[in-house]
Amino acid sequence: SSAPVTVTVTGAAGKIAYSLLFRVASGLVFGPDTPVRLRLLDVPTAVAAAEGVAMEIEDCALPLVDSIEITDEADVAFDGTNAAFLVGAMPRGKGMERSDLLSANGAIFRDQGRSINAGAADDIRVVVVGNPANTNAYIAHKHAPDVPAGRFTALMRLDHNRALSQLAARLVAPVAELDGVVVWGNHSATQFPDVSYLTRAGEPVTAGLERDWLVDTFIPRVANRGSEIIAVRGSSSAASAAGAAVDQMHDWVHGTPGQSWTTVALPSEGHYGTVPGVVTGLPCRSRGGEWEVVEGLAIDDFQRARIDASVAELVSERDAVHALNLTD
Ligand code: NAI
Repeated sequence: SSAPVTVTVTGAAGKIAYSLLFRVASGLVFGPDTPVRLRLLDVPTAVAAAEGVAMEIEDCALPLVDSIEITDEADVAFDGTNAAFLVGAMPRGKGMERSDLLSANGAIFRDQGRSINAGAADDIRVVVVGNPANTNAYIAHKHAPDVPAGRFTALMRLDHNRALSQLAARLVAPVAELDGVVVWGNHSATQFPDVSYLTRAGEPVTAGLERDWLVDTFIPRVANRGSEIIAVRGSSSAASAAGAAVDQMHDWVHGTPGQSWTTVALPSEGHYGTVPGVVTGLPCRSRGGEWEVVEGLAIDDFQRARIDASVAELVSERDAVHALNLTD
């Protein structure tokens, strides 16, 4: 077997972590030959609950679990870590203003960015799940100047997977035959799930994707799926979010197959007219352990307007973060 990988999961006592940790511990991210050293970070009041989760992981008697460490200190959690899932975040409470939410989360992701910068392994890969995920990733990245920008990603794979499953249903096609989906922009209601490059078994798809259906049904359905899940299930998406986080880290480590791509939110270098620096959803392939943005896709006026609108929201979040001095 290979050398163990140190994996940090924040928000370890929460709902998403309760799905995520068991999948990581089962080898679904790093493979069946790679032992994992799990680091569970949560706030002091949730450490006991995180210990309970650790007890359950132990009780699975999983052969890949090398060790489990529980802590409420970011410096301990990220020391030597190779892969970090930043799931823990401050939920939006009753009567809480957007700026309150940004400043509470800003402080969390500032401190975690600093700890990652100070102590994480050189090959650190970060997937930010906690909302507002794109802007939280932006903040963490700003506080980790020694870590290459492309190591900080936010989770938009859930949006991507939701888009794929809606398309599979619409086209009566197996998910495995579909490729070329991208979700541009922010993990929010302004996101733009885009089917312009969709292929089925390698062939472009045209039938079934009428503009009316895209605008009135598909785009809002994907963008608001989180609310739909809450309304129907009575609780927020957890297993599907964990599954998407697993997919994103898995593909990052192992590569994406052939010419296919997926959606990753990462700090823009200005690709496709997006604003440099903001963490936006982009079409990406994974090569040699790094994300590469797919180049050369044509963008029409409809796409341009949708991409620009979601990126504008990211810029306003970025500006709010700077106004709160969270990047100093
Ligand atoms: P949860 O409320 O069940 O768990 C959150 C956990 O984070 C709690 O145990 C809490 O104590 C912990 N936490 C809070 N502050 C922390 C800190 N400073 N350090 C470490 N841990 C801390 O929430 P759930 O359902 O697990 O969701 C977590 C986050 O993921 C939320 O922000 C949610 O909005 C977001 N989310 C993102 C999705 C995406 O696609 N990007 C999809 C679904 C949820």
